[in-house]
Amino acid sequence: MTIKTGALLAELEAVVEESLNRHLATAEDWMPHEYVPWSEGRNFGALGGEPWSAEQSKLSPIARIALEVNLLTEDNLPSYHSELRRTFGRDGAWRFWVNRWTAEEGRHASCIRDYLLATRGIDPEQLERARMATLQAGFDAGDKPVLHACVYLAFQELATRVSHRNTGRSCGDPVAERLLARIATDENLHMIFYRDLVSAALQIAPGQTLRAIADEVAGFVMPGSVIPGFGRKAVRIAHEGIYDLRVHHDDVLMPLVRYWRIYQIEGLDAETEQVRNDIAAFLEALDARASRFETRRAEARQAVQPNGAGLP
Ligand SMILES: [Fe+2]
Ligand SMILES: [Fe+2]
Repeated sequence: MTIKTGALLAELEAVVEESLNRHLATAEDWMPHEYVPWSEGRNFGALGGEPWSAEQSKLSPIARIALEVNLLTEDNLPSYHSELRRTFGRDGAWRFWVNRWTAEEGRHASCIRDYLLATRGIDPEQLERARMATLQAGFDAGDKPVLHACVYLAFQELATRVSHRNTGRSCGDPVAERLLARIATDENLHMIFYRDLVSAALQIAPGQTLRAIADEVAGFVMPGSVIPGFGRKAVRIAHEGIYDLRVHHDDVLMPLVRYWRIYQIEGLDAETEQVRNDIAAFLEALDARASRFETRRAEARQAVQPNGAGLP
């Protein structure tokens, strides 16, 4: 029996309320201005200062790309907010959660941008043009049903956490690393919120929830996919190991699939058993693709090492 959207939202509301209360008790009220090295800042050209140029940045080219992608992903918050509001509704605990989440997410873009402008980490003009293009493209979740949205958000928050953490490590600057680790802690709490909603949904509607997990595992797309040049940037980020297929499989998909204990669920009908088998088959194939990618990358690194040219 399929449970309709309204009934699902009502059934899950008690879990939302409980998780929200736990979130509010756990989340630290951190201050973004404390994470930015303001003393490094100075005026740009129009105010009599020096225009930006690449040699002013202490960041490596790859750290610049990863930070830009993370920032532009965070920048697209207006689209995410409207998608969540449409999916989860405007009432009760759901509404409170969506607004609280939006307020927390709003800190992320502003303090990464403050860091990058104060330190002259990346080209501010190019960044602003990319921000305009990203927000104009918007993010369209494609009318995902409630359970699909919860599963997608659990994976996406975890992917974002991992991406911020790994980007922070690639920066070679303890200030950037501290800032991105702080943001990653927020993303982790967001992931826990959706992860636990999916656990509750597996109890209420196991067949529908497994279908949603199967669809979202197979169809996952990063929210930053609308950023100009995302494909090219994602390839560079993968080559550096900041976020690649191995990370996606091992650190994002598998921990949640394991947590949900989907292989331990008993009493499924034949159709849902097949859906669960499809999830296992997809993950196995992805694992194999990740290994092939790692082999090719290691070969490419070996090939360019002798002359110290680095990765293409
Ligand atoms: Fe965020
Ligand atoms: Fe988040």
